[in-house]
Amino acid sequence: MNEPQHPLAPLIQENQFIGWTCHIDFEHATVLTNDDLKAKAKGVPLHCFLLATNFNPKKPDAKAGEIILLRVTGSAPLPQDAELLSRKAEHLKNRELKISSEDSPRNEFQFGGLLCRILGTFFVKDGRLRLGSDIESYATAAELEVYRPTGPALEMIVNYISPERAAAAEAEAQRLGLTTALPAFPIGTVRYSSTDRLHRGEEADTAVFNLNAVDFLSRRTAVFGMTRTGKSNTVKQLVSVVMRASHECHLKIGQIIYDLNGEYANANQQDKGSIAEVFPGDTIRYRMIPTPGFQPILNNFYTQIAEGHHTLRGLIELNRVSRSSDIDAFLAMDFSEPRKEDFENETSFHHQLTRYERKIAAYHAVLARAGFEPPPNFKITFEAGASAKNKVNPVVDPANGLTPLQAQEWFQLARQIQDELVTGTGQNWVEPDTNVLMNMLLQRNDQGAYIAGFRVLQPFKDYHAPDRTTDVCDEIYQHLLAGKIIILDLSVGNPEQRERLSKRIARHILASSMAVFNTGQTPPNIVIYVEEAHNLIGRGEPLTEVWPTIAKEGAKARLATVYATQEVSSIHPNILSNTENIFCAHLNNENEINELSKYYDFRDFSKAIIRAQDVGFGRVKTLSNPFVIPIQVDKFDPERERQRAGK
Ligand SMILES: Nc1ncnc2c1ncn2[C@@H]1O[C@H](COP(=O)(O)OP(=O)(O)OP(=O)(O)O)[C@@H](O)[C@H]1O
Ligand SMILES: [Mg+2]
Repeated sequence: MNEPQHPLAPLIQENQFIGWTCHIDFEHATVLTNDDLKAKAKGVPLHCFLLATNFNPKKPDAKAGEIILLRVTGSAPLPQDAELLSRKAEHLKNRELKISSEDSPRNEFQFGGLLCRILGTFFVKDGRLRLGSDIESYATAAELEVYRPTGPALEMIVNYISPERAAAAEAEAQRLGLTTALPAFPIGTVRYSSTDRLHRGEEADTAVFNLNAVDFLSRRTAVFGMTRTGKSNTVKQLVSVVMRASHECHLKIGQIIYDLNGEYANANQQDKGSIAEVFPGDTIRYRMIPTPGFQPILNNFYTQIAEGHHTLRGLIELNRVSRSSDIDAFLAMDFSEPRKEDFENETSFHHQLTRYERKIAAYHAVLARAGFEPPPNFKITFEAGASAKNKVNPVVDPANGLTPLQAQEWFQLARQIQDELVTGTGQNWVEPDTNVLMNMLLQRNDQGAYIAGFRVLQPFKDYHAPDRTTDVCDEIYQHLLAGKIIILDLSVGNPEQRERLSKRIARHILASSMAVFNTGQTPPNIVIYVEEAHNLIGRGEPLTEVWPTIAKEGAKARLATVYATQEVSSIHPNILSNTENIFCAHLNNENEINELSKYYDFRDFSKAIIRAQDVGFGRVKTLSNPFVIPIQVDKFDPERERQRAGK
């Protein structure tokens, strides 16, 4: 029987040996290497990981075993460099003059030093591999052997997860009732430099980088980069790997994308295929305006009274519609239902409720008159009161329900004999709001002069969704519970309205999940993706607004947020410092880099981030990794995803 392998052993790949440490302290190490060794190991790029150790995988010494993880941060001058350089110059001159040197000095010339930062130490405790984020002690005289890990060894490094976090992930998987472990989301492969002929060449063994579910779910993830550097691609890749993984382990993860440019909902020319096309059965698209293949983000104005009225108010204000005093009064109306606890006794509550119902009925009649299509077989029902009932139309009783047309006629008549109704009952039979609504129906103000009335609402009838029976926010939440992908295509429609609805949906998701949390149950896993995030969680945004609240406190409610923006500096510092995962592709200026350099070891990469403009070449810091990892994000490949999804 084979001995079980020592946990450190898979990290050491003998053919990747590149040299020895010749100096080490708590922060840095200098590695002596030579050209032959580097060539055999397929090069040593800047920022690549190295492993330094005297651990011998063939003769593992359980006690002494540790491997120091290094990152190459530059070259290191060696004491004899100056002398070597002058000898080399001499040698080249001689070669030019065809004077033969006594012996080939190449062996001596090919040595050089690499400056490395110490990232941590792999060691074994209780039989498990651990990574400390420093070194404990070092032997000045030690000549540690240095390897450049690739393939599986590199995968072990970049996907390392501490035993504690692994245990937390296991507990979480159990709590969620999974039969498998929590998924990991593969999003790219390790990439060190823009020129990647060797370390990612045809024969190279690349290393897949995974984002762990425990790092991603309920957490914040930032995606930074200049325009066209692959932010949206990163989001698409995330959405699709999360979808795939959630299918595989039967864990429902709802995902909602705030798609400002309509690029997730629709295939565009550059990117053949979109999320919606890849997961047709699991994607529901919403739009502000009626479009085939899309659900309307809109509400039914007949059933979501307050919301519909709010929408109308926004539209009228935005379109600067000329207003009469009746329209002003209409805009100021409050459609909230009277609440029992606000009344002294049952009688006064009922009295108010009846008046409220008349107001709603009149509002319904105005909507119908303005051309807002009523739901099928819609009836307008209210208690008119004996006197009004007889005076307006003794034949029909509104308490039995009127068709929208009958209701319009009824209220118009009532408005015409308004004075009689007042004297007849000894008090106003309706409240002032209902009066305003009747004025709008009749297109007459209190003085009898013409007003535009219901016509003011006519242009906005497309904002009403006649077929919807539930609130759109609730419908979306239900889809998220079922693990669907929701795409809110915000590329069309009125901007102010869009923003209000987006916020309302976000608020609803937060409130619904918090409500679950507050009852002591586990809220569903939901991921919210926002593009152009500086608009929503920008510096100036009060932290009490819905987006910052989600970003700050969503973890409790199991809401993960992924936000993409071009500007690191525009994000609220409070949110940025609470962001567990950061992806950063190319940025073009020091200001933005400086902002990022405040976090973890991004400073090591500041020059490379400005210099390398390669699309999808990002640096990633995740919660589990104590250091930044440079990766190439996979290109979202609709065709491949479709094939996988179809399996
Ligand atoms: N990892 C990648 N590999 C190859 N091509 C990519 C990768 N990421 C993105 N691309 C391509 O580069 C282009 C720009 O990508 P993307 O739209 O994701 O950038 P962006 O950062 O979101 O840009 P913007 O700021 O304009 O929204 C697209 O055509 C996309 O297909
Ligand atoms: Mg984009």
